[in-house]
Amino acid sequence: MSEPILRVRGLTTTFGDGALHAVRDVSFDVMPGEVLGLVGESGSGKSVTLRSLLRLLPAGGRVAGSVCWHGRDVLAMNEAELRGVRGGEISMIFQEPMTALNPVLPIRVQIEENLRAHTKLDGRGRRARARELMDLVGIPDAARRLDEFPHQFSGGMRQRAMIAIALASDPKLLLADEPTTALDVTIQDQILKLILELRDELAMSVVFVTHDLGVVSATCDRMAVMYAGRIVEEGAVADVFACPRHAYTHGLLGSVPQAGAERSMLLSIEGTPPGLARIPEGCAFNPRCDFATDICRRTRPRLAEMSPGHHAACHNAGAVAAAGSPVRRAMRDG
Ligand SMILES: Nc1ncnc2c1ncn2[C@@H]1O[C@H](COP(=O)(O)OP(=O)(O)OP(=O)(O)O)[C@@H](O)[C@H]1O
Ligand code: SF4
Ligand SMILES: [Mg+2]
Repeated sequence: MSEPILRVRGLTTTFGDGALHAVRDVSFDVMPGEVLGLVGESGSGKSVTLRSLLRLLPAGGRVAGSVCWHGRDVLAMNEAELRGVRGGEISMIFQEPMTALNPVLPIRVQIEENLRAHTKLDGRGRRARARELMDLVGIPDAARRLDEFPHQFSGGMRQRAMIAIALASDPKLLLADEPTTALDVTIQDQILKLILELRDELAMSVVFVTHDLGVVSATCDRMAVMYAGRIVEEGAVADVFACPRHAYTHGLLGSVPQAGAERSMLLSIEGTPPGLARIPEGCAFNPRCDFATDICRRTRPRLAEMSPGHHAACHNAGAVAAAGSPVRRAMRDG
């Protein structure tokens, strides 16, 4: 069995003088060439987790724990070491392309800047590579479009441009934060296919944040489910879909469309996630949970191994498993 390329342990990110925990004690591994899906409702801490890995937090954000990349802790690196990793060995596609792209620089300059920072190519080599990258991400008429500015690109093309910039350094790990949200389904499919092709072509690993469990089942090898800043379940996608062990995951899977063809957002769980200042005692999900019992209101469940490689933090994992996977049931009933 190969070693993980990224080993995250006890990642904890706070805002507001440490009072608000956006991410708490998050641990996971990423294997070479693997696509790990990170799912959960809005505010569960997915983007903060990805940003914390590269120390790209807004002012006031503080991160603790360890992020071990090839034996070195990213959280302990000095600025020069961090620059070598960030945008180089590890690249990130941000949730909002317009805030991540520089509006006053043509796309060419933004790609070439990354090439200058992370490769040994000369000016001519960088120009040629920029064109290749535009072709690779499927932006037609690359020679002309390289000289355009982000606002001249459509939403789908902007996402592609951001992917081209992220790939300029031949990263070993791509952190992709909802790279297809707000795009129409055809473009979503093209971009997902592209990321998977690049994974194969460049032997890259991917951490893929999404709301969409259809995308997880089509794209990811393993998945981690976040709720209120913690990972509550984690395992191979096939195992989690076949037998969810946490009631929240069970609820999420209930929102997967029965025909499997359409996409739906996560709408089926009653209530809303708690604000950071009001995380419930015990299991954070207990006020919304159909499986909750007394202990859930008192004691926080710890992540435990349910079967090899499949972990969940639920006091009533047995009852959740006995209820059966909503996805399986939908397939059987349908
Ligand atoms: N700069 C900040 N200051 C204070 N709180 C913040 C800051 N950035 C994020 N948070 C809080 O951290 C929590 C996690 O946010 P995060 O952006 O990671 O959620 P998410 O899972 O990515 O949600 P979405 O699906 O909407 O993108 C939220 O409660 C959010 O309000
Ligand atoms: S620990 Fe209890 S409240 Fe939390 S998900 Fe499991 S059954 Fe529900
Ligand atoms: Mg987010």
